[in-house]
Amino acid sequence: MSGGRGDDRGLTVRVKKKRGIKASSRRWLERQLNDPYVRRAKADGYRSRAAYKLTEIDDRYKLLKPGQRIVDLGAAPGGWCQVAVERTGSSQDDIRVVGIDYLAVEPVAGSTILEMDFLDEGAPERLIETLGGTPDIVLSDMAAPTTGHRRTDHLRTMHLCEVAADFAVKTLKPGGHFLCKTFQGGTENDLLTLLKKNFTSVHHVKPPASRDGSVELYLLAKSFRGSRADADGETEGEEPGPLG
Ligand SMILES: C[S@@+](CC[C@H](N)C(=O)[O-])C[C@H]1O[C@@H](n2cnc3c(N)ncnc32)[C@H](O)[C@@H]1O
Repeated sequence: MSGGRGDDRGLTVRVKKKRGIKASSRRWLERQLNDPYVRRAKADGYRSRAAYKLTEIDDRYKLLKPGQRIVDLGAAPGGWCQVAVERTGSSQDDIRVVGIDYLAVEPVAGSTILEMDFLDEGAPERLIETLGGTPDIVLSDMAAPTTGHRRTDHLRTMHLCEVAADFAVKTLKPGGHFLCKTFQGGTENDLLTLLKKNFTSVHHVKPPASRDGSVELYLLAKSFRGSRADADGETEGEEPGPLG
């Protein structure tokens, strides 16, 4: 490394060009070293800069409340779980935040994080069982691993978003909320239709912590109506069990 000191005085840290370091890796490292949210996360004890995306969305839309049950899909390394635990008051004695990721996550006190692929057949059941009741909020920050092929990455993450939305519609408490990572221009009409039918309001949200250059965008569906209408408007029954 050379150049500035990486503190908050506007100095820029640069990573020297070295053989063996790809230009894209060097750019990533420079961005991390110069990112004020990365520094803040370290100082505040958050596992990820992503924690601020949830904090900012929640400050604006007032979703998380004490006593709620929360599901966090794609939880590693645990930043959103930390925020959800803080804001719901979930504790080891009464765990109300359950996350899932196929990557191992260091335990976050006040939550349980399942090491499992959310797309596994048994995952939804395990989540609800572990949560000990139906969720008030389903969060999903899931992103598919990048392949370098933009369109493929886009489609894979959109698929995760659709499966997460389906889970939310099948499990949420009436009045509950669904927040999901998506991409600009990527939200399929069927998904939007499903959400608009099942929730009182649907918003696209770009929190300040989401990098300007990134196409990432969050989809927020507020106040689940509770009657579980599918995309064609068919109502599937008033109060089915947690998994429909
Ligand atoms: C952007 S990170 C989440 C960051 C997290 N919100 C935080 O604050 O620490 C996206 C995560 O989604 C996870 N993920 C992607 N597909 C998944 C799947 N099918 N099942 C479980 N987790 C998945 C990835 O492993 C990755 O850890």
